[in-house]
Amino acid sequence: MILFKRANDLRQWLEKAKQNGLKSGFIPTMGALHAGHISLINQSKKSDDLTVASIFVNPTQFNNAADLEKYPKTIEADIRQLETAGCDILFLPSVAEMYPDGLQADKKYNLGMLETVLEGKFRPGHYQGVCMIVDKFLQLVQPHYLYLGQKDFQQCMVLQKMIDQLTGIDKPVIRICPTAREKDGLAMSSRNMRLTTDERKTAPKLFQMLTFIKENFTAKPLPELLTEAQKMITDAGFKPDYITIADYETLTPIQKPNDCKHSIALVAAYLHEIRLIDNLILS
Ligand code: PAF
Repeated sequence: MILFKRANDLRQWLEKAKQNGLKSGFIPTMGALHAGHISLINQSKKSDDLTVASIFVNPTQFNNAADLEKYPKTIEADIRQLETAGCDILFLPSVAEMYPDGLQADKKYNLGMLETVLEGKFRPGHYQGVCMIVDKFLQLVQPHYLYLGQKDFQQCMVLQKMIDQLTGIDKPVIRICPTAREKDGLAMSSRNMRLTTDERKTAPKLFQMLTFIKENFTAKPLPELLTEAQKMITDAGFKPDYITIADYETLTPIQKPNDCKHSIALVAAYLHEIRLIDNLILS
């Protein structure tokens, strides 16, 4: 694996490599890698000529300073995992490298209602920061494929909207890979590293609650189902930001199972200090 810290070095290397017509896949990460990230690397290794990953804890997408400060950092273990998985290139820039002119936004992305619902509502500015950094990475790497995990379902929609508005480069195709889960169902997340032993035991309740929604999706009226789902996780000690059943295409909440063609249940909830998110496709 070749490690680049400077954008210019990476750009020059990729320009040469792509003269040979190589097709590349890009996996942006914030490090603290787990099997979910590695499954994205594996997908790219299977189908692309060149697999490029980045590790960068992006300050502009954190709306909570403590969350940024406490974000887990395991860089040596990350590098070992990427090498074992056969990743070709790792881009590991500094904040100054990615934001030479400072952290203020130089453009506003039009994300429509995606910016005002669910994660957009509870994490103001978060998606503008995600778009800002992924835009910079895409301009630099110009991959054919962008690999993202389904756990961040709304982020996948946001990035598709950002890519639709991109100009000047060929637009990458997004490939969404299924959420990787622990044996007890907990969605893999870098933030899981911050759970205490007791919190770790409680955390799978979130997936159990989503499974309960899926199992009862057509059996109970949806408002009643959501009330029961909420009680399941609040009784376990979670403080939900939201639990919703929504149209898979638009994230608009639905009232009845046949209000849309495909539906999805999404949740974000705090277990004490740690905010976890998850989702499950229902139909
Ligand atoms: O999903 C993440 O880890 C981040 O939002 C991303 C896409 C790497 C941008 O910083």
